[in-house]
Amino acid sequence: MDAISLLTLSKWGTCIFHHSFVLVLARFRPTLTINLRSPMNESTLPFYSRHGLHVEIYDAQTQFGYFFQDEDFYRQTAQITGGPVLELGCGTGRLAIPLLETGLEVHGLDASAAMLEVARRKRASLSAGTGERLHLHLGDMSRFELGNRFAFIFIAFRSFQLLTTSEAQRRCLHCVREHLTPNGKVIINIFDPLYHCLLPGPQESTQPPREFVHPVSENRVVVETLERVNDPLTQISQECWRFTEIDATGEIVRQEEESLRLRWTFRYEMRYLIESCGFAVEAEYSDFHRSPPAYGKEQVWVLKTA
Ligand SMILES: C[S@@+](CC[C@H](N)C(=O)[O-])C[C@H]1O[C@@H](n2cnc3c(N)ncnc32)[C@H](O)[C@@H]1O
Repeated sequence: MDAISLLTLSKWGTCIFHHSFVLVLARFRPTLTINLRSPMNESTLPFYSRHGLHVEIYDAQTQFGYFFQDEDFYRQTAQITGGPVLELGCGTGRLAIPLLETGLEVHGLDASAAMLEVARRKRASLSAGTGERLHLHLGDMSRFELGNRFAFIFIAFRSFQLLTTSEAQRRCLHCVREHLTPNGKVIINIFDPLYHCLLPGPQESTQPPREFVHPVSENRVVVETLERVNDPLTQISQECWRFTEIDATGEIVRQEEESLRLRWTFRYEMRYLIESCGFAVEAEYSDFHRSPPAYGKEQVWVLKTA
């Protein structure tokens, strides 16, 4: 498999990985016994929904490969539009905070109080003049009313795929339209699904364990993707991820599981959805270097009001 075909189903998908991410991981020597099949249980919470290991190491995870390559893309569009900017599903502020360097007002909305708390902590370390231009809102991207209009609204890193029904996707696009200035731009990034990763039913994970350093304890944190279950009827894939913190003596300090439910959306389905919600497609790319649409890579949609 070449570097490009490795980049696909998602950060979340078990089929695909970014090349440089794999290279980094190759340095690690996993010492855990890996349990490949683990049915989700009552203690398995939805992704990002709690304060815990996943949220604590989110920024450490995003320092590899794929994640680096979208920041300039969003920054350039923000500068062209002149702001204000709204990021839906802003998480820990990975993108919203660097966007402050443009001098624009930046708003971020996220459904996870835990992720927003990380963003707030990062904002507190900025200079007063910069930090006060970042406005963070707890809310659902498929039902929000901020009382403002924005020249640029974006949904990065496949967060749109966490809306798992067509209704929620439509409501989200409706809210986006209501919050956009007349000449405003919208960018949405989702992955372009690889067909062989969409087989029905339970699929064993082929993704190797990943290892990170906890930013506070400096312990190792091993992340495993356990079983994935695909439902082609609803186009939802559900994965169980296990996060294990291990101290210097090899003892397990904490172990938590979270469930990732995401919806895959095919390119032409996405185009119909966009157009039926009152937007026109201004550009369509397969990465953040503005490459033309391509199977199994990213879907990067640049939209304006129709
Ligand atoms: C993959 S993270 C992306 C975070 C950030 N945009 C980035 O690129 O690093 C997905 C984010 O979407 C948020 N999210 C999921 N469903 C949401 C919803 N319905 N409304 C708002 N945020 C949501 C999650 O809490 C999480 O912070």
